[in-house]
Amino acid sequence: MNESFKAYLQQAKSRADSALTRYVGNFDSPYTANNTSHYLARLQQAIEYSLINGGKRIRPMLVYAVANAINSETSDSNADKVACAVEMIHAYSLIHDDLPAMDDDDLRRGQPTCHNAFDEATAILAGDALQTRAIELLTELEDCPSKTQLALIKILTAAAGQQGMVGGQLIDLNAVDQTIDLDHLETIHRLKTGALIRAAAAMGATLANASPQQLQAIDRYAEAIGLAFQVQDDILDIESDTATLGKTQGADQALNKPTYPALLGLEGAKNKAQQLHQQALNALTELDDSADSLRELSSYIISRQH
Ligand code: IPE
Ligand code: IPE
Ligand code: MG
Ligand code: MG
Ligand code: MG
Repeated sequence: MNESFKAYLQQAKSRADSALTRYVGNFDSPYTANNTSHYLARLQQAIEYSLINGGKRIRPMLVYAVANAINSETSDSNADKVACAVEMIHAYSLIHDDLPAMDDDDLRRGQPTCHNAFDEATAILAGDALQTRAIELLTELEDCPSKTQLALIKILTAAAGQQGMVGGQLIDLNAVDQTIDLDHLETIHRLKTGALIRAAAAMGATLANASPQQLQAIDRYAEAIGLAFQVQDDILDIESDTATLGKTQGADQALNKPTYPALLGLEGAKNKAQQLHQQALNALTELDDSADSLRELSSYIISRQH
């Protein structure tokens, strides 16, 4: 990775971290009786524990990079809100993904998972609250036509719901201990992980008023990196270690999850990731240098070590 892209990643991560702190929301409510606020304070703690705790912030970065590639004049604060909305959905999906009823994981981002640090009900509710806060945030954009706001909400909700991430998670859980073919696995990965990454890109482009041609190019790019992202996640589950990952290495194998390395072998999975990276680059041929951070991001996604 070149030095300037490393600095870019760091800067985008810091920007996302401070925006998340700003927009996480709070539990002040006119309906809250004083003697109930400590319960809500605990929920707030669980939300902050899971949201502001050192994620890589790839999805916010994608929102920023796409918006900037399309129109460098895009409002920074609106891009921050869009980026946070996507990251909040992602954080909620991780809290629920780790629950005993799902992957039953103990470690996330180097810390005990939310249900271990708090309790299961609090973890479920923290996820629920993050989900609704994400949508609320998209109603708070400034100087943005309501048509654009509605389009953003539509993209995010469709990608997060049963036709996207939630559907993918369900198929993923049902594939445990099953022998599935490559098409089946690709569907899981496209839905459980690809859909939200694709939404992040489409939202960045929509906020920046992309033309239909630009939207299409960005979508083809995001479709490729979205799948590549999960292929690399599967590879890291085998090749990395728990300290580097911040989550339990070997968790997929322990649960007998279908993964790209399980179906194609490690080398086959790595080739697949390379092919997807090439597809992502091909999708961007019509875009100029302003899309270079997107090109670098694709390369990072398939070479990242955690
Ligand atoms: C992990 O996502 C879950 C997947 C969708 C593969 P990330 O690797 O983006 O996790 P964080 O946000 O950096 O912790
Ligand atoms: C994650 O897939 C997909 C979502 C959270 C939506 P994984 O189950 O592979 O993610 P990790 O490996 O636990 O981060
Ligand atoms: Mg999972
Ligand atoms: Mg998991
Ligand atoms: Mg995984």
